[in-house]
Amino acid sequence: MTTTGPGLDSGPVDGPVLVVDFGAQYAQLIARRVREAHVYSEIVPHTATADELLAHRPQGIILSGGPKSVNETPAPTIDPAIYESGVPILGICYGAQLLTQQLGGEVARTGRGEYGRTRMTLTERSPLFVDWPSDAEVWMSHGDGIAVVPEGFVPTAHSADAPVAALHDADRRIYGVQFHPEVVHTDRGTDLLERFLYDVCGCPPSWTHTSIIEAQVAAVQAQVGEARVLCALSGGVDSAVAAALVHKAIGGQLTCVFVDTGLMRSGESEQVEETFRRQFHVDLVHVKAADRFFSALAGVTDPEVKRKTIGELFIRVFEEVARELVSDGDGTGGDAAGFLVQGTLYPDVIESGSADAAKIKSHHNVGGLPEDLAFDLVEPLRLLFKDEVRAVGEELGLPHDIVWRQPFPGPGLAVRIVGEVTPERADILRAADAIVTEEVRRAGLYRGLWQSFAVLPAVRTVGVMGDGRTYAYPIVIRAVTSDDAMTADWARLPYDLLERLSSRIINEVEGVNRVALDITSKPPGTIEWE
Ligand code: XMP
Repeated sequence: MTTTGPGLDSGPVDGPVLVVDFGAQYAQLIARRVREAHVYSEIVPHTATADELLAHRPQGIILSGGPKSVNETPAPTIDPAIYESGVPILGICYGAQLLTQQLGGEVARTGRGEYGRTRMTLTERSPLFVDWPSDAEVWMSHGDGIAVVPEGFVPTAHSADAPVAALHDADRRIYGVQFHPEVVHTDRGTDLLERFLYDVCGCPPSWTHTSIIEAQVAAVQAQVGEARVLCALSGGVDSAVAAALVHKAIGGQLTCVFVDTGLMRSGESEQVEETFRRQFHVDLVHVKAADRFFSALAGVTDPEVKRKTIGELFIRVFEEVARELVSDGDGTGGDAAGFLVQGTLYPDVIESGSADAAKIKSHHNVGGLPEDLAFDLVEPLRLLFKDEVRAVGEELGLPHDIVWRQPFPGPGLAVRIVGEVTPERADILRAADAIVTEEVRRAGLYRGLWQSFAVLPAVRTVGVMGDGRTYAYPIVIRAVTSDDAMTADWARLPYDLLERLSSRIINEVEGVNRVALDITSKPPGTIEWE
């Protein structure tokens, strides 16, 4: 991570609350919690200087947890000038220890370390602990503890192994908590964050889904003016919400392109047509390119070659449509293509450090477009986390099925068809996958699972059906829980659901005579099979 968050030009008027990242995933969860309290937050690297941080005009600064100990060398620090800035500061776990150490206090082994639910006793009044019981349950995860508070600070709580579980210097508006208010296991964690945001920082709860839409509509209008805008729809959540948002902003200037690769899920093309053409009246170009994709994939079995083949062909098809649209759109030929919508989300922006990136980055869905089709990107979701994208999608009136759809890989069913991808094998998988989705939905488990789908291996096995011997494909059911797809656990699906899946898939999908369940977590397995 190298740069700070996205420019404020398309963010809200009030400055953000900055969440300083000290590693691992702690910062993202805190930033999401702040936004759930309707306050706009941005994640910034701890290497930013105080001037860089203050250039955001922050209303508050939260120092996140981190995997290191402040007594390790090197351990991540923050420019101490921020403590003199007058901006309210909240240190959480590592952040609390860091501010203690940097302001002259002491961090040491204070006890046995605490991991998990812990009882904490309040010892001083604090604007963060309004109406808390004197004994509270909090979530701790620390080895070191705060041994001596810095001058001007008072301890406000303790626990069995943390003599200082919370501290503050109320005059300077600097607060620290050893526990994690951002996790659900801390009883009143949300309340604590809200007290910091609303009472200490004075932030208004103005970051709402309506305000996000209004701000992005205005930003898109300002960015594109009268120009033509293209959007590649994939059927997934992000491109759908991005398209709906841009359409709200500029209506008929937007053309959506949906490339049907023949590798989509069952009903996906129809749903895109129904939603965008009929419901939203979007100018939609539906390119039926399945034949081209299957020809290109003939004989291809290597997963990487498969991905590359699909990616390259996708670009070629998209490019053909784009050139046509552009040249008959404004008569300038292929040079002034205008704008291209991308559904980039905030986590991608943080990870790629591409806050100011203006041109297309390589991406499996719409990537590496040729230079002479020099699009500028419109990224109306680049400030948003996935849950915010979904909420915005609902607010814009997109159907639940699209908004709550599980992630689907850019290369589509191809990465779930081991071996050669043929129209027949794609049909088998699509039919099995539709049954998995339908039954998982019916069991009420669809939203709770990160992904649930069918995989078609490249082997056949012997079976017996009716009077005859069969020699057909198995279908493997893959269902995982996950927060971010970096790690995943295989889902413990109920037996009765598995039984329904097995019997329906074998009975209803021709060419399948066996159903198996994938019980591999990630790592060591990946979520997809290829
Ligand atoms: P793996 O299989 O690596 O997948 O555990 C992690 C997440 O990424 C999705 N995925 C992709 N998404 N293009 C995409 O847009 C791809 O080529 C691709 N490959 C995997 C996968 O579905 C899972 O959610």
